[in-house]
Amino acid sequence: MSWRPLTEGRNGFFTNSILAEIGSKYGKSIVQIALRWLIQRGVIIIPKSIHIEWMQQNTDISNFELTDEDMATIATLDMGYSLFFDHYDARTTHMFME
Ligand SMILES: NC(=O)c1ccc[n+]([C@@H]2O[C@H](COP(=O)([O-])OP(=O)(O)OC[C@H]3O[C@@H](n4cnc5c(N)ncnc54)[C@H](OP(=O)(O)O)[C@@H]3O)[C@@H](O)[C@H]2O)c1
Repeated sequence: MSWRPLTEGRNGFFTNSILAEIGSKYGKSIVQIALRWLIQRGVIIIPKSIHIEWMQQNTDISNFELTDEDMATIATLDMGYSLFFDHYDARTTHMFME
């Protein structure tokens, strides 16, 4: 399950050139490519927006399919750590317990 699937825009997410290039093939936005990548891997997505156009855009991701090559290219963006906190670090558990 992906809480915060758009990273709140951190790390240049909304202008990512790899996602933009893949999106141009399908006529889809950077956000739609990222959300499609997640659901194609069986991940439940929970994006949030206060804008009706973006809410509609975020649900309009069922009418195209990323290729295996696209999926692998997007996977290279994984930095190997969370932009928010480490779920495997005992200090995170401690923080929530406090
Ligand atoms: N329970 C938990 O532990 C937990 C943890 C993290 C998050 N969450 C929940 O998960 C949900 C998502 O998290 P989040 O809001 O922090 O992060 P997010 O969904 O990754 O990012 C939200 C940001 O993306 C923007 N956005 C959304 N759709 C867009 C689009 N199509 N194009 C451009 N920008 C777009 C939103 O703008 P606007 O809002 O201005 O439209 C907002 O600034 C929230 O409901 C949050 O409460 C829960």
